[in-house]
Amino acid sequence: MQTNILGIESSCDETAAAVVSDGEQIRSSVVASQLATHAKYGGVVPELASREHLRAIVPVVRQALVDAGVELHDLSAIAVTSGPGLVGSLLVGISYAKALSYASNVPLIAINHVEGHIHSVLLENPEVRFPAGALVVSGGHTHLFEIRAAGEYRLIGKTRDDAAGEAFDKVAKLLGFGYPGGPVIDKLAPFGDATAVRFSPVKMKGNPLDFSFSGLKTAVLRWTERHDVNADLREEIQRRKQLRKASVDDWLKVTPQRTLDLLASFQRTVIEELLRRVNLAAEEIGAESAIIAGGVASNAGLRKQALAYNGLRFYFPAPELSTDNAAMIAAAAFPKFQAKEFAGLELKAQASLVLA
Ligand code: KG4
Ligand code: ZN
Repeated sequence: MQTNILGIESSCDETAAAVVSDGEQIRSSVVASQLATHAKYGGVVPELASREHLRAIVPVVRQALVDAGVELHDLSAIAVTSGPGLVGSLLVGISYAKALSYASNVPLIAINHVEGHIHSVLLENPEVRFPAGALVVSGGHTHLFEIRAAGEYRLIGKTRDDAAGEAFDKVAKLLGFGYPGGPVIDKLAPFGDATAVRFSPVKMKGNPLDFSFSGLKTAVLRWTERHDVNADLREEIQRRKQLRKASVDDWLKVTPQRTLDLLASFQRTVIEELLRRVNLAAEEIGAESAIIAGGVASNAGLRKQALAYNGLRFYFPAPELSTDNAAMIAAAAFPKFQAKEFAGLELKAQASLVLA
């Protein structure tokens, strides 16, 4: 018999629900993004996020069931993200999942959001061989894992300060490109000279597989201070701040070459920092495959650079599965369903849940 799992995700600023059959067939995937709500504040505002989740959760789940053509009683399990994330946001998804589970007598499965991101890749690439390296890079996480065998994770490196996506967002905000920064920088970087600004590589004391992006962010800030000749840059930033919903062409009109060069150089540095460590990790654990998942995994420059690496096979999620979604949560629940790893109604939100 087919296994239909409903996934529910509300850990940050996306309310999402999806139905996945047998851990690999996406029957529906609905994502309600709160970007418009948070964009004017330059980042996610937790109180607003909880409120938006409350508004969206019922229609989003209903839509996922309708799109999949299934009813609650057709479900084998209901999977929900229990952490890590914003506690108020997580609670909305968890409370609703519990209520559905109780009312329809369908078992509940708790999923770690980071494991979900890893499954956004495994879902479409069941052929990935273990041991494998896995890098989860988003606005909230920069975590490097060894996957010894299916479901067996060991955390081998993480950021000591900002997440990679956070660095993209902060640099974009500093230069007046709005939020989120990753997609804009990704689109503009090809127009700049990635070798124009030299940022020194980050050397980590202790674990060489750890990351740090706050120094790079400060280096970009210093660059802007040095280039604020006759306030040119400040005017440039003001012009960009007045743009809303800009297209690449709009951004290009208000962005001189030296700023494009800065963006390209910044992006190249982040990509090199990420790929260098994935490569090092793969050597250490004897892996021939590496998974890269999370919002930053949609970066075109990162995907291109990864393809140029010899000796390591990289796997990326489909673009729509890179950023937060619930198909990855439902897919991650399939092995747990087979192992009968169910959660009780006492399930709590765990803001700092770790995967290891
Ligand atoms: O996985 P995600 O949707 O949410 C979190 O769990 O954080 O990731 C969002 C993050 C943001 O920081 C955003 O700027 C970054 O992913 N991002 C990108 C790109 N698309 C999204 N960063 C670089 N290049 C992109 N194309
Ligand atoms: Zn995420």
